Amino acid sequence: MVYYVKRGKVPEQRHTYNDRLNIQKEELFGLGAFDGKYSLIYHKYDPAEVEDTSIEYKEKLSAVNLMEHRHLKTSLLGKLDNFYTGRQVLFFNGITSTGIIDTDSTSNDYFRNALCDEVFYVQSGKGSIESPFGTLKYRPGDFIYIPKGTTYRAIIETRSFFFFTISSDHIDIPANYMNRYGQIKEGMPYYTRDIEIPEFHGITEEAGPFNVIVDYGNYYLHLTRNYPVLDAEGYDGYLYPFTINIDKFAPIVGKLHMPPPVHTVFESNTFMIGAFLPRLFDFHERSIPVPYYHNNIDSDELIFYSSGNFMSRKGIGEKSITMHVHGMIHGPQPGVVEQSIGAKKTDEVAIMVESYNWLLPTEKAESIKDEDYQFSWKAKKD
Ligand SMILES: [Fe+2]
Repeated sequence: MVYYVKRGKVPEQRHTYNDRLNIQKEELFGLGAFDGKYSLIYHKYDPAEVEDTSIEYKEKLSAVNLMEHRHLKTSLLGKLDNFYTGRQVLFFNGITSTGIIDTDSTSNDYFRNALCDEVFYVQSGKGSIESPFGTLKYRPGDFIYIPKGTTYRAIIETRSFFFFTISSDHIDIPANYMNRYGQIKEGMPYYTRDIEIPEFHGITEEAGPFNVIVDYGNYYLHLTRNYPVLDAEGYDGYLYPFTINIDKFAPIVGKLHMPPPVHTVFESNTFMIGAFLPRLFDFHERSIPVPYYHNNIDSDELIFYSSGNFMSRKGIGEKSITMHVHGMIHGPQPGVVEQSIGAKKTDEVAIMVESYNWLLPTEKAESIKDEDYQFSWKAKKD
């Protein structure tokens, strides 16, 4: 749930026309089978037009079926393809996948994820997401949210590195952040005003044909269209891509250690996405700033380390990912609690995905694994 937006030329009333000679093609872009949030998009051309189709099967992801704490060095992966086919999945289950994109290539193709909402955290780089809703610029520190079914093209201006979470489970702003009017409440880490929406520009008339890659999970369906894809004359509603930048966040701090749910950015039924951001540490006179040991009995905890000094973890660098699994306990490595006493603040930026369903690593994840990490809590023998 975001907020009501109206841009461009739309009929005075839905399901009607203004100009008998130029009837706009109205598309209901909606969730929940006419019952969820939606936008109405008014196209100049037929949005259903398809000249030809072809199928391209994806390489099957193979899981490494072994639960252990892991540290991955994603900077070892390097650039790959573009924003669509360069998605390097590192953990997945039947619903959700996470991983990274490192690309400097803009594809001429358009893309539509048929199954999943998409959230990208921008680690570095600049560019934009072009869709019928307009141009959504991105910059470092942005979370880019793209609803399932959006047709878009990613314009990569400078080499860009993203950490992504993609899920067929609907991703949304946490329900407990919203009041009954759909406004984000006081006391939450970000506010409705902090949400940036696309700049609407109307039709982009281009000469076709156009390729739209529709992602169905195991395969891509390529649609060839003759009409321009970015042909919206206007839209209104509640469902559209947006960004929120971490600079806008006001992290919640406390006298004693605040647990990760206070840092939630997005939620779904089976996971949450959170952000640990620069903030003051707990202000009790004998507080322990780093997190206590925890046993995530029914969740897996993935953290992408973006920048700053990651005090509770040794050997971690920018673009590292750790996965702390259910069934095993984790916490500060030996000596870290003692070192942390007296620290007043942190400059860390880290993004967390806490999944209530198992997330299994891919073979690609295993290939960049820090072999020693599992044993980083080993007792020191003198
Ligand atoms: Fe943890």
